[in-house]
Amino acid sequence: MDVKRQIQEYWDWRSSSYINGVTGLVDEERDIWKRYLSSCLGTQRLKVLDVGTGRGFLALLLAELGHEVTAVDISQSMLDEAEKEAGSRGLDVKFMECDAENLPFHDETFDIVVNKYLLWTLPEPDKALSEWNRVLSSENGKVIAIDGN
Ligand SMILES: C[S@@+](CC[C@H](N)C(=O)[O-])C[C@H]1O[C@@H](n2cnc3c(N)ncnc32)[C@H](O)[C@@H]1O
Repeated sequence: MDVKRQIQEYWDWRSSSYINGVTGLVDEERDIWKRYLSSCLGTQRLKVLDVGTGRGFLALLLAELGHEVTAVDISQSMLDEAEKEAGSRGLDVKFMECDAENLPFHDETFDIVVNKYLLWTLPEPDKALSEWNRVLSSENGKVIAIDGN
């Protein structure tokens, strides 16, 4: 089986147990995340792409902050969970299944590309970075990559 298919199957399997704070965050923690994201992004409404959104951790916070958010993931099961969560919060986020290393968007579509705990999972992170760069606006486009070691 090809490696991407294996990765996809793994995250489909993890989707029911992968919480990582999406629903568990208390209001105080949500506010800390929102303050941090606002300090990076400012107050203007931006077109944001959350890559490897999982259950929508960053996508939902960014939608709450008023940004226009597209959230993608290789696992449809993760996206189903994220979509449920967005619905229950009344948030408008566009979800789409696709590969972070091969994005189906035109050049310069987004102001910001965000991701959290994704880079370590990718077989070809350099390919992903060049894709994120391609879909970013050439004027003030930014990547915000949040990861551990
Ligand atoms: C560790 S989880 C992080 C989820 C979320 N960003 C968070 O912080 O809660 C990694 C996520 O990346 C997704 N992923 C892994 N490889 C991917 C790829 N090539 N393209 C898009 N998403 C991918 C997985 O399906 C999973 O949802």
